[in-house]
Amino acid sequence: RKPATLHSLRAMHARGEKVTMLTAYDATFARLADEAGLDTLLVGDSLGMLLQGYNSTIPVSLDEMVYHTRCVARGLQGGSAWLVSDLPFGSYQQSPAQAMASAAALMQAGAQMVKLEGGGWTAEMVRFLVDRGVPVCAHLGLTPQSVHALGGYRVQGRDADSAAVLRRHARELADAGAAMMVLELMPSSVAADVQADNPGLVTIGIGAGPDTAGQVLVLHDMLGVTRGKLPRFVRNFMAEGGSIEDALRRYVAAVKDGSFPDPVAHAYAAS
Ligand code: KIV
Ligand code: NA
Repeated sequence: RKPATLHSLRAMHARGEKVTMLTAYDATFARLADEAGLDTLLVGDSLGMLLQGYNSTIPVSLDEMVYHTRCVARGLQGGSAWLVSDLPFGSYQQSPAQAMASAAALMQAGAQMVKLEGGGWTAEMVRFLVDRGVPVCAHLGLTPQSVHALGGYRVQGRDADSAAVLRRHARELADAGAAMMVLELMPSSVAADVQADNPGLVTIGIGAGPDTAGQVLVLHDMLGVTRGKLPRFVRNFMAEGGSIEDALRRYVAAVKDGSFPDPVAHAYAAS
């Protein structure tokens, strides 16, 4: 496989091939995921919960994201997957200048794209970064860094008004230059509308139905090692495969052939 580029990922989407993404936090799993054929890896701030034991992503620091980005980037040496890293809570909210400094730290650690959460005020940050050569992935719907403001981990955009706001935010972010956009925990119809409104945008769904350009899952969730109640959109690929390598390959195959996510079992409807 050739190393993925923004160009190759956009071309993949343009020809109708699904884009696969999985979270990775260390060199070993990054290497395994790359060998299994993942198109993109995300150093997610979900590591705050899965690796550090916090009950939200809010405590994760930029230094910690830099450390894990370095680990994953080393694991990907000689590999192909495109590397996205999360800007953690508090590292981009103050000003475009703060966002740029934080993005630079992640890029210098090996990220090829940075991800930031939210709509509206974030368009300014996205344009500032994109103009300065930083590819940006937006993130709308359930944005875990805002869990306290949102009143918990709940489905977003269920009624017509909030769905319209989501669509407007997505359009603004795409216009600001976001090349990719995670759509988390929203009715399938809303995610489909966002994709239809912005045909060139590489939307990556998680609990957002089958009509996005690609899919992402959290590594520990799809391997079945996350403790506690899992959201319904998760599928345990380890239960089907005989090994971690096999589970990763099955995930890639299921996203590519459209059998994951299931349009009913793994999805949400508008109210
Ligand atoms: O941190 C993370 O794992 C994420 C994905 C769920 C998209 O942001
Ligand atoms: Na995240």
